[in-house]
Amino acid sequence: MHIKKKRPWEIPEQEATPEAVYMGRRRFLKDLGYMSAAGGLFLSGLEFNGIFGVFEDAKKEDVIKVPSTPTSHLYPAKRNPEFKLDRALTDELVAGKYNNYYEFSAGKSVWKHVDKMQVRPWTIEVAGLVAKPRTYDIDEIVRMMQLEERLYRLRCVEAWAMAVPWTGFPMRDFVKKMNPLSSAKFIRMQTFMKPEWAPNQKLRFWQPWPYEEGLTMAEATNELTMLVTGIYGHELPKQHGAPIRLITPWKYGFKSIKSIVRIEFTDRQPATFWNTVAPDEYDFFANVNPNVPHPRWSQKTEKIIGTNEERQTILYNGYGEYVGDIYRKAG
Ligand code: MTE
Repeated sequence: MHIKKKRPWEIPEQEATPEAVYMGRRRFLKDLGYMSAAGGLFLSGLEFNGIFGVFEDAKKEDVIKVPSTPTSHLYPAKRNPEFKLDRALTDELVAGKYNNYYEFSAGKSVWKHVDKMQVRPWTIEVAGLVAKPRTYDIDEIVRMMQLEERLYRLRCVEAWAMAVPWTGFPMRDFVKKMNPLSSAKFIRMQTFMKPEWAPNQKLRFWQPWPYEEGLTMAEATNELTMLVTGIYGHELPKQHGAPIRLITPWKYGFKSIKSIVRIEFTDRQPATFWNTVAPDEYDFFANVNPNVPHPRWSQKTEKIIGTNEERQTILYNGYGEYVGDIYRKAG
């Protein structure tokens, strides 16, 4: 049972300082990112683009395509009542029409561009500093873990927010089963590399594909961190990151990498996609914080997608009681 210590607004606003800018083979791409961030919004990526997608008329069966897989019968999973919301759940069709998935599209109507993607067969390589590096079939992982549903707030760095019912399992349970070595300090995750499914991996040639993200071990094993295989009581549609993605609800959404194919335990802070593209705009930790503006917009408030309601942003997206300790220790 989680013991409530402090409410979000009582948590000191203290964040770990991001480590030194990543150097090395990505230097060239990073420099391009700088240039693009300075020279125009379109090259650097995360932008307020495609905002009209949500109002577009589309039938639910065209937008929400749920795959049928060997583990489909495990959904819906039992809801974990610990995780409550301070707002209504986002309508499923709204959430399925308004996505960020740059491999497929730089707009929000990602659902129109994902048909070529195949979610089975799908394997996940577990590599690096673990007792037994190995490649797993996705259904083997789903059967090995205990699925549960959690209602979490989702806050994008673009200052919009949703509230979503995810189905998956705590990453800490998975980490335990993988038996990491004590030298493992970070977890590095990668999305697939298949321009034949996702044309932007070729067209946006200046960006460092495949998409990569990383967490410290303390973050990866925090109670909140989930590996997610489902949403709204069924498996993930492709635009949400099928068949398996990360969810870290106290961080900006870009940390929550979609369609993972590789999980590596490492002793070095991994390079991450948006941080490589524009390090001044997207830091490694990317914790939600109303007092740290994005260089191009404020983070004081957020817009709720679907209702357009404006709300105050809360430090750690309101999850400080779970994660505040990580950064107090680091800071
Ligand atoms: N993962 C990959 N591989 N590619 C992406 O472009 N976008 C991120 C994150 N994961 C992204 C990604 C961003 S910016 C956000 S806000 C969330 O996915 C959005 O998740 P959703 O579309 O399921 O709401």
